[in-house]
Amino acid sequence: MKGPVRVEENIPCTAETAVSDRYLDQVQRAQRDPEAFWLSQARRLVWHKAPSHASRSDFNGDVRIDWYGDGQLNVAENCLDRHVLTQPDKAALIWEGQEDGQKLVLTYRELHAQVCRLANTLRRLGVGKGDRVAIHLPMVAEGVVSMLACARIGAIHVVLFGGFSAEGLAERLMDSGAAVVITADVARRGAKSIPSKVTMDEALLACGAACTVRHVLVVPVTGTEVPMQPGRDLSYTAEVAMEIPDCPPEVMDACDPLFLMYTSGSTGRPKGVVHGTGGYLVWASYTHEVVFAAQPNDVFWCTADTSWITGHTYVVYGPLCNGATILIYEGLPSWPQPGRWWDVIDRNNVSVFYTSPTVVRAAMREDADVVRSRSLSSLRVLGTVGEPISPEAWQWFHDEVGKACCPVVDTWWQTETGGVMLTASAGQVPGRPGAAGLPLPGVNAVLVDAQTQTEVEGAGDGLLCMARSWPGQAMTLWRDHERFRQTYFTTCPGRYFSGDGARREADGYFWITGRVDDVVNVSGHRIGTAEIEDAVATDAEVVESAAVGVPHDLKGQGLVVFVVPRTEGSLNPAAVRRAIADGVGRYAVPEQIYVVRDLPKTRSGKIVRRLLRKIASHDLNNLGDLSTLSDPDIVEEIIAQVAGQA
Ligand code: WT7
Repeated sequence: MKGPVRVEENIPCTAETAVSDRYLDQVQRAQRDPEAFWLSQARRLVWHKAPSHASRSDFNGDVRIDWYGDGQLNVAENCLDRHVLTQPDKAALIWEGQEDGQKLVLTYRELHAQVCRLANTLRRLGVGKGDRVAIHLPMVAEGVVSMLACARIGAIHVVLFGGFSAEGLAERLMDSGAAVVITADVARRGAKSIPSKVTMDEALLACGAACTVRHVLVVPVTGTEVPMQPGRDLSYTAEVAMEIPDCPPEVMDACDPLFLMYTSGSTGRPKGVVHGTGGYLVWASYTHEVVFAAQPNDVFWCTADTSWITGHTYVVYGPLCNGATILIYEGLPSWPQPGRWWDVIDRNNVSVFYTSPTVVRAAMREDADVVRSRSLSSLRVLGTVGEPISPEAWQWFHDEVGKACCPVVDTWWQTETGGVMLTASAGQVPGRPGAAGLPLPGVNAVLVDAQTQTEVEGAGDGLLCMARSWPGQAMTLWRDHERFRQTYFTTCPGRYFSGDGARREADGYFWITGRVDDVVNVSGHRIGTAEIEDAVATDAEVVESAAVGVPHDLKGQGLVVFVVPRTEGSLNPAAVRRAIADGVGRYAVPEQIYVVRDLPKTRSGKIVRRLLRKIASHDLNNLGDLSTLSDPDIVEEIIAQVAGQA
């Protein structure tokens, strides 16, 4: 055999050349009898009452997503208690802080104890089944503990990103009606400090009379002194210390909500995607195992923040449900020096490394020495998610990080799908650089022709839809089932519409061509252009604006905003930037802002975003027929301005 050899196992590094028989067999079984297939998958969990059926879902009429409807279980029990019985002293969670030497290992027994103490605390504070708890923490163990504590008592967690502005937080706190918030004193981000508690205080103030939050638990991440409002604010450490390390789990129905996850769409405010209990956990467990060829002795590192769906399914629920060891690292990839994450891998013998194309692209730009000076020999499987990975980046990840010895799984999925849908499953499906891979067994991905509404057979492209429900599918949007139906089930009636376009090769491999709606993906952050425009509109000097996505070398996509001022010279880009940072968050601040006289519009007054996208990306070929615009001259004017500011 030629090529590298995996040292410990002495297995030659040969990549599979064809889809495995086992995989094909699973695909066929799931196709032939989905009920039986998914009912058998339910056996991966421990149930208080085993379900008698799998799906009663229906994409027609009012739309119903219903998995394992008569089953009863508790998610925390599945992720902890059963492993405490069989492997109490195995590391469940390894945490490394961003400062040198900061490390914490929690065994399954210890993690269980911490979760129970917090669960008891929450119950004492009056939190019960169905109540919402907001979690606003950096990457610390308490974040995982908080999610599982909620799951234990049947509270619905709402994890909020540390990068949201006070207004962004307030909006989500009010929409979810959170009763308790768990936040940090201060979070670290490289050399920067993020004032989590102070921002949360501002958010609570902004909620005003509509505030539903009764208590704020403050985790001492840095030990910084922060203002505490007597009666409302409590020390996390002091509160959990009062409780015993045991807490009876709440028995939940399979379709009770487990969590809300806010995400952006093409219109309106962020929507609270609701995930259920039984179906979601089956999906987390199934996909974690099938996609990554999960092994019991894995040290599984998904680098996503827990405030995103990836952090829910592959930092917490999938790997813990399957009894693996999870790693969470607090810091940035290249702080305090390049290669920090490679050191984390080597120090902790990480076997599966699941990250984003943005991280890969940034690492590619560093000196080749940075990655080559690390061993990385513990790695077995590599994965990416969140945005397309270019064939070059895929190859670099495979050759330099995986040392040509690890399968690279690009995984396509969404907040709404709960877990991976399309991928080249490790060890079973040959990887193809740039392609998203095949649907997992049981996933009925179809391409629908936008014009004819017919399904494309074989090779071709169309709107990426699901013809059938799957266990991880979101159940509804929080308090807005009609918006759920409208958003996902009306574009291609009878099917779930993802919002993405895709192309399929003759042998079934999918390639994602990108969003077909007004959603922009900046470094894996999903941003609705409408949200940006709403924030910009809060400036009284703004008449209107249009945000568009443009290709960006490092971030995948970048945001560009065109703004029309009330009077010429009355608006400066800094004010627009501030309005976006305040209304949405710093992460959504655009690359470029152009203050323009007017926007290109059709005669009926519709903004022609397609044109703005092309102009902003300096792609001036095929601008198309401009004569149908209400003011064709504006296009030349904007082109000149963009060229002038480039
Ligand atoms: C959108 C979903 C899945 C968790 C993280 C993002 C894009 C996601 C890929 C991929 C090409 C991808 C899609 C999708 N996307 N993964 N592997 N290749 N595009 O979840 O915030 O809900 O965003 O991200 O456009 O619709 P999300």
